[in-house]
Amino acid sequence: QRPLRRLLSCPGTVVAALGKEEQSSGSAETGSEDRTPKKRFSEVQKERREQAQRTVLIHCPNKISEKKFLKYLSQHGPVNSHFFYESFGLYAVVEFSQKESVASLQNVTRTPSLGTEAAIPFRSRYFNLKLKTPLNQTSEQSSIQCRNQSSPSSKKLFELLCCAESVDDQLNTLLREFQLTEENSKLRYLTCSLIEDVAAAYFPGCTVRPFGSSVNSFGKLGCDLDMFLDLDEIENFSTHKASGNFLMEFQVKNVPSERIATQKILSVIGECLDHFGPGCVGVQKILNARCPLVRFSHQASGFQCDLTTNNRIALKSSELLYIYGALDSRVRALVFSIRCWARAHSLTSSIPGAWITNFSLTVMVIFFLQRRSPPILPTLDYLKTLADAEDKCIIEGHNCTFVRDFNRIKPSGNAETLELLLKEFFEYFGNFAFNKNSINIRQGREQNKPESSPLHIQNPFETSLNISKNVSQSQLQKFIDLARESAWILHQEDRDRLSPSNNQPWGLAALLLPSVANSTSLAKKKKKPASERIKNLLESIKSSSTENSTATNG
Ligand code: CTP
Ligand code: MG
Repeated sequence: QRPLRRLLSCPGTVVAALGKEEQSSGSAETGSEDRTPKKRFSEVQKERREQAQRTVLIHCPNKISEKKFLKYLSQHGPVNSHFFYESFGLYAVVEFSQKESVASLQNVTRTPSLGTEAAIPFRSRYFNLKLKTPLNQTSEQSSIQCRNQSSPSSKKLFELLCCAESVDDQLNTLLREFQLTEENSKLRYLTCSLIEDVAAAYFPGCTVRPFGSSVNSFGKLGCDLDMFLDLDEIENFSTHKASGNFLMEFQVKNVPSERIATQKILSVIGECLDHFGPGCVGVQKILNARCPLVRFSHQASGFQCDLTTNNRIALKSSELLYIYGALDSRVRALVFSIRCWARAHSLTSSIPGAWITNFSLTVMVIFFLQRRSPPILPTLDYLKTLADAEDKCIIEGHNCTFVRDFNRIKPSGNAETLELLLKEFFEYFGNFAFNKNSINIRQGREQNKPESSPLHIQNPFETSLNISKNVSQSQLQKFIDLARESAWILHQEDRDRLSPSNNQPWGLAALLLPSVANSTSLAKKKKKPASERIKNLLESIKSSSTENSTATNG
């Protein structure tokens, strides 16, 4: 029945839609597969970091000849790749083949003289290109292709979802449209690398690494950029083999605790970004948070950045999520849809508060996939048993060991469709005993809640912490109500399958667009049924469908 429903709801003509059906059959599975990362996390980080160090960011005049621009830059050495994007002006990201080319370009670059204002002469890898004479309109100017750095509009998404072949295709489409592009990932690593140059003025040899959704494979275009200022690397390269009876140490200042050291470091780096960091605006030092941070906007890339230090465990949880995302192509598709669903219903927000976070939602999906039969994802304890000596990792007394080569993890024998998993996810959490149970991906089963927060999700590594401690009872209730409603909508659709009525949004589209969910699917049935009623309705639908299938099988 799906194709019929699709043809009826797709704005294009039947012929065009049929054409698409032919083209795309099979791509639903491979679409998400193609982007599934297969390299080890550390390998990707290393490669991207090295690439970023050979890369520069250039603010360009709006009218520019791409050919001449590249010719000009290649005086400093071969250019490996480049792309343009727009963000309050035209920008180019240019990756040279060799790091020396960057120094060569810096050598011929001057600090601007600004008339009445004075410039702080910071020689970064973020440049401003000027034309000595304006371009000759006709001959030189070719149109520059810009790479989009933002996610599709709701309208575009709605159209794409309504034209999809099936609910599975809808989930894969959403993933394809929202996941970070190659260019966006490059820009994220480049931004970290530019911030590293600023921090290195104080701490030569330090590293600024992206973590969180920018690297864990669950990032959506437009997500924030979490950065980790790593000062331990410095120690690593200064640990020489002890020679003779001598051991040399730096004279340092001592402070009463690690936390105070973190606050002091972030405080000066924050000042530095504020005063000297090209393109860094709106710098806020949030030093009293549980995890102190400096928040700022990097204007040229458009990223909202959160810089932390002494936060190594978060880097490890990014690696764990990356592995979970790479193990099965259904994981990322489901996580993206649940994240978008939560955003569409204002369950998540970009402002910190009592809402559920994307990180918590991701862990909930992982937990749900561990609970399937057979499981789609292994438990963290199981990943720990597969680890070898090199994988061993203890951070601040917490055992963060797990296998990092996911080729050693057997694929799941579970073949459930995304459509089924989506429906079951809503049902599972619509009925979860949040009042007494905690979600625990280490063991892959519910545990008794150790404390009374409404939602308890154990931090996989710092097991005494609850990653969703901030969530209020009313926000949790909102999540439960919406999960039940969504399960109900999907079940209703199953029942309506034989009579696809009109251009109504269906499947994921019906769940995602708040206006649609409120004004049609639900409003059509008059008042929103109360959560409990939906739960009972669902149960009755399910028991009648079980009876039906038993009758048919019989
Ligand atoms: N983190 C954590 N415990 C928390 C919150 C965050 O360990 N209570 C870690 C996780 O590794 C998370 C990272 O910090 O991935 C970044 O946090 P955040 O930006 O809130 O989440 P993201 O996963 O990056 O998702 P988003 O796209 O919403 O930024
Ligand atoms: Mg983030």
